[in-house]
Amino acid sequence: MSFRCALLLSATMVLSALAALAQKKEIKQVPAPYTPPTSGKEMYVAYCASCHGKEGKGDGPAASALKAPATDLTTLAKQNNGKFPILHVSAVISGEHMTTVHGSREMPVWGNVFLAMHGHDSRWVQMRVSNLTHYIESLQVK
Ligand code: HEC
Repeated sequence: MSFRCALLLSATMVLSALAALAQKKEIKQVPAPYTPPTSGKEMYVAYCASCHGKEGKGDGPAASALKAPATDLTTLAKQNNGKFPILHVSAVISGEHMTTVHGSREMPVWGNVFLAMHGHDSRWVQMRVSNLTHYIESLQVK
């Protein structure tokens, strides 16, 4: 196994998508599966829905095991005078903007996961973050 390959594997194992054992109220970490960088929807379902819910309402199966509530992503525009906060959302996803409610961040740093997925080529990371952001924009309630 090459060095890069080993690095990639360990990074995706550590910073992985999370799935919950809802009954036991504990979060099981699973390696982030590969998804097409062009599909915001497929990425959302694979990486975000476990906490934020299938429709973005913050009611995913892992949500009840979190200390901080997984934000309802459908009201981001509504809460920002009707304007979708595009820069804020992409910064939160990539990890440039650390949202912390009570000191420790539960929202995973996806920028690092995506970097590892693409052998540290940041152009793919930008594409993933941008397509995810546009997908979340499409979930906004009026
Ligand atoms: C392990 C559960 C979990 C997963 C998986 C997760 N999030 Fe989050 N997310 C949170 C929590 C909890 C918060 C609330 C802030 C905090 O505690 O960090 C949050 C906050 C956010 C915010 C900030 C909203 C605001 O008002 O500032 C955005 C945007 C977001 N998540 C998008 C995503 C996207 C996109 C994905 C998938 C790529 C994702 N999240 C995956 C738990 C998660």
